[in-house]
This record gives sequence, C-alpha cells and structure tokens, in this order.
Amino acid sequence: MSDAEPGSNDLPYTAVARVGEIPAGEGRTYEVAGRLVAVFFDGAGYHALDDLCPHMGASLGSGPLVDGVVTCPWHAWRFRTCDGAWCDNEKLKVAVFPVRVVDGTIEVAVA
Ligand code: FES
Repeated sequence: MSDAEPGSNDLPYTAVARVGEIPAGEGRTYEVAGRLVAVFFDGAGYHALDDLCPHMGASLGSGPLVDGVVTCPWHAWRFRTCDGAWCDNEKLKVAVFPVRVVDGTIEVAVA
C-alpha cells in the first residue's frame, strides 16, 4: 500500500525512517541530499522543514510540534509546518519539502 501523492514519483525521494519511529508532536533530523531536514509527525501526517533555524542555527527537529507549529528549542521562534513561515513575520520562511509514506517508509524529497 502507498500513501504517495499522484505524480510524486518524479521527485527524488529518499527514505528517512519507518512509520512509528517519530512520536506524535516530535521531530527527527535526517541528512537528505546533503541537507539537514527536520521531519515531524503531527499525529496524522508527516511534515519536512529545513532543520536550520534562521535565527542562530539551532536544530528545529528537536523542537516540539503543537497545532501545526514547531517551536525552536533555543529561543522559541515558531514556524508553521504547512509552509515554513515564521509565525511572527510570514515574510521569513524556512524551506519545506514534500513527504510521502510508501509501504511504511517515510520518504522526503529534496531537489
Ligand atoms: S536559534 Fe532558533 S530561535 Fe534562536
């Protein structure tokens, strides 16, 4: 069984983890195509963001995820997982990446 989006097979997906390895409300950081990517599970689906906080470089993957917002563990800047926008100023965004689940494996595409 696959939860992949139609047409998503054209993207360069990389397997990062198995379903169940990321607890709800948490993230984990993986290296994908030379970038550090934070992958979060909100209890229903997965979201992938650039792991590097644009403030001072903390790992966003170690921050908590609540109601679609991840909070940086260093100084509490908050970012939406849907589009990577900083909650205090939407002009500042971190990159977001496509995620899919194929046969119980979480995959992220970093172009
Ligand atoms: S390093 Fe993320 S808020 Fe400061």
